[in-house]
Amino acid sequence: MKVHFIGAGPGAPDLLTLRGRDLIAACPVCLYAGSLVPEQILEHCPEGARIINTAPLSLDEIMQEIQAAHTEGCDVARLHSGDLSVWSAMGEQLRRLRELDIPYSVTPGVPSFAAAAATLGQELTLPGVAQSVVLTRTPGRASAMPEDETLANFARTGATLAIHLSIHNLAQVVESLTPHYGEACPVAIVWRASWPDEHVVRGRLSTVESLINNTLQRTALILVGPVLESEDFQESSLYAVGYDRRFRPQSADSPFASSDEEGGA
Ligand SMILES: C[S@@+](CC[C@H](N)C(=O)[O-])C[C@H]1O[C@@H](n2cnc3c(N)ncnc32)[C@H](O)[C@@H]1O
Repeated sequence: MKVHFIGAGPGAPDLLTLRGRDLIAACPVCLYAGSLVPEQILEHCPEGARIINTAPLSLDEIMQEIQAAHTEGCDVARLHSGDLSVWSAMGEQLRRLRELDIPYSVTPGVPSFAAAAATLGQELTLPGVAQSVVLTRTPGRASAMPEDETLANFARTGATLAIHLSIHNLAQVVESLTPHYGEACPVAIVWRASWPDEHVVRGRLSTVESLINNTLQRTALILVGPVLESEDFQESSLYAVGYDRRFRPQSADSPFASSDEEGGA
């Protein structure tokens, strides 16, 4: 018996990995985080599967379900939205499983920041503009932020910020970032990226608050940084003519010329 943690992706049911789909199909029990995991993904569950929405459950109640499945020798598919490495509450469940000596596996999913960038048709790292993406959030009712993890501290780096769980704090986001990025810095907000009712607003730090409709709450990602409108960036070396690399050695003297690897990117 194993508990398979599976990243269910950002919303579109076909943004699920094949491994995730096959594991769901093989598990007689499925626990899913119903607030964000799309119901169509549950169609992969086998007939007669026990399917439980964990949104209204406590951690203790979730563990009771897993322990019951463990006693019966039934594998469990445990679905969380996006990827499991960020804001999934997987860590506390894994710790309990380790204490109980219940085996588990982890299958990644498409994170919401990647889905939002895809919606925008945007690379978040452009040469010479930004080479880092900070996945962060502002403090919430249930989650304080570690002291140094402030938007202002991240903003000092000039990196692209992908701010989660914070659409209700937009005024605070704008206030914290404006002194560092400037009022003209582009901002994009993507609600429910990849869902049928996906919605995008593009603006600047100075305008974005006036552009959003208050009916659009929750499940939004705020992206901030100069990459969002920069056309003035260098091309990467990767495909540059004359750049000596393992897959495209430029001469017989190249340190890469004798590589066994096939050329061509
Ligand atoms: C509890 S966190 C889950 C994050 C998730 N594990 C991930 O990999 O993106 C929920 C937050 O992620 C962001 N989010 C999740 N799905 C999203 C989507 N489809 N579009 C935009 N933002 C999304 C929002 O900021 C939302 O408040």
